[in-house]
Amino acid sequence: MNRPENQILVIFGASGDLTKRKLIPALYSLEVLGLLPEKFAIIGVSRSGMNDEIFREIIKDGLLKFSEEKDKSGIDAFLQKVSFLSINAEDPATYPQLSHKLSELRQSLDIPGNTIYYLSTPPNLYGVIPRNLAQNLMNNPDDGWKRVIIEKPFGYDLQSAIDLNTSLLGSWQEDQIYRIDHYLGKETVQNVLVTRFTNGIFEPLWNRNYVHHVEITSAESIGVENRGPYYEGSGALRDMIQNHLLQVVGLIAMEPPASLNSDAIRNETVKVLQSIRPYSPEEVVKSVIRGQYLASTIKGEPIKGYRDETGVDPHSKTETYAALKFYIDNWRWGGVPFYIRTGKRLPTRVSEAVIHFKPTPHYLFAGDRNNESHNKLVIRIQPDEGMLLKFGMKMPGKGFDVHTVNMDFHYTDLSIDRIPDAYERLLLDCMTGDSTLFARGDAVMATWKFLDPVLEAWKNNSCIPVLGYPAGTWGPERADDLIEEPNMTWRYPCKNLSDDGIYCEL
Ligand code: BG6
Repeated sequence: MNRPENQILVIFGASGDLTKRKLIPALYSLEVLGLLPEKFAIIGVSRSGMNDEIFREIIKDGLLKFSEEKDKSGIDAFLQKVSFLSINAEDPATYPQLSHKLSELRQSLDIPGNTIYYLSTPPNLYGVIPRNLAQNLMNNPDDGWKRVIIEKPFGYDLQSAIDLNTSLLGSWQEDQIYRIDHYLGKETVQNVLVTRFTNGIFEPLWNRNYVHHVEITSAESIGVENRGPYYEGSGALRDMIQNHLLQVVGLIAMEPPASLNSDAIRNETVKVLQSIRPYSPEEVVKSVIRGQYLASTIKGEPIKGYRDETGVDPHSKTETYAALKFYIDNWRWGGVPFYIRTGKRLPTRVSEAVIHFKPTPHYLFAGDRNNESHNKLVIRIQPDEGMLLKFGMKMPGKGFDVHTVNMDFHYTDLSIDRIPDAYERLLLDCMTGDSTLFARGDAVMATWKFLDPVLEAWKNNSCIPVLGYPAGTWGPERADDLIEEPNMTWRYPCKNLSDDGIYCEL
């Protein structure tokens, strides 16, 4: 693969956790793989009064802790590409300092004006920083392209997302804006495209004629940790569903794109998101469940309830769990329910999509009669990344005793050291100008448009309960009732792809 063009990456919010845990380790991995531009520099920007040395020490510490690269011998050389600038990004008067630093680096390293500005800051700066950059002509592409990467959440609801988008488009072009959703950078999420469009056996069945329902889960065993204040203003719906899970829905449900061109793919995913049937206030009550984790004991260890976490209102109604049932009103999916759920303090960390195929039209074998279909395709996003197909098989012996068995593929079967981190892929794509795996403005608006009635109903209808669930369980029991079919419930995934069951070893 060719290296990206020479360029400079500016990270706003450089003293934050994301920079240390994800961005710098991803950049170091690209360095080890020889995929960084030949001439490249990173400027960390934040208000904290650090200098180059202190900043390098901090990120070195982060690299030693969080980098998955076995070879750490190149860290010191890599750090030479990194420098720091302390400015108040809210104040337009400080931008000439950044502009000056960029010019100096460009000159000394012989790098053209190609620049990425990565906004790893609190969301209230997502409009301010691009505006300040533009006011100081730092978005001017005359001496080289300029791109801006915006972290999630992109907006707080539909109106704020529209406002932010309008503000950005006031001084930047859509093709300069990269709205990051790290789920799209996950190998296993990208593999949904390959699974569907390179294997002739799946696509003919991938529709309302053969699919009974689709289920997507993203569970986490951790609580809100030190992010209480952020989470209070967000909740599971905004934090995970509006972006990560609905983007996965887009890929699972899209039509085949005309090509691999970024707009061809994004044109298809946006159609899916725009076709989700809107909720009425009554349907929100029936089809959406919210929950909040309660104190409990896990493996003998006491675990705090959400309301006891630091920075959380003791009477908070913020949801740490959300489950939704909805329909996609188009020819492919008409009438097929989609179920998605996410939560903190669930039994294990697991993300997966399950395609449940319809049962056979006629039960030939006795004993098979009351069963749901044997056929499920599980696309495991993490951990134990892989795919699992379930099918019915005759147990050896007399009669026709049918059992469901597994056929599985695990990424660990491949002879690769590790699966690249999502940020590695996304940073590299932005460096090369490929926006396929970034959310386009219209897709973000479509997800907010779908979720706005839920946010409204939760705010205005005090009869909609926030259901408590003990930390370490699979969320409120009422979520089981979303799946209205008898003998049918969510898949309760375990750490290992091939196992499931509500009480399985986690
Ligand atoms: C982030 C959310 O976007 O995704 C976090 O803000 C969540 O709350 C995280 O923990 C989950 O990402 P992953 O890659 O660990 O599934």
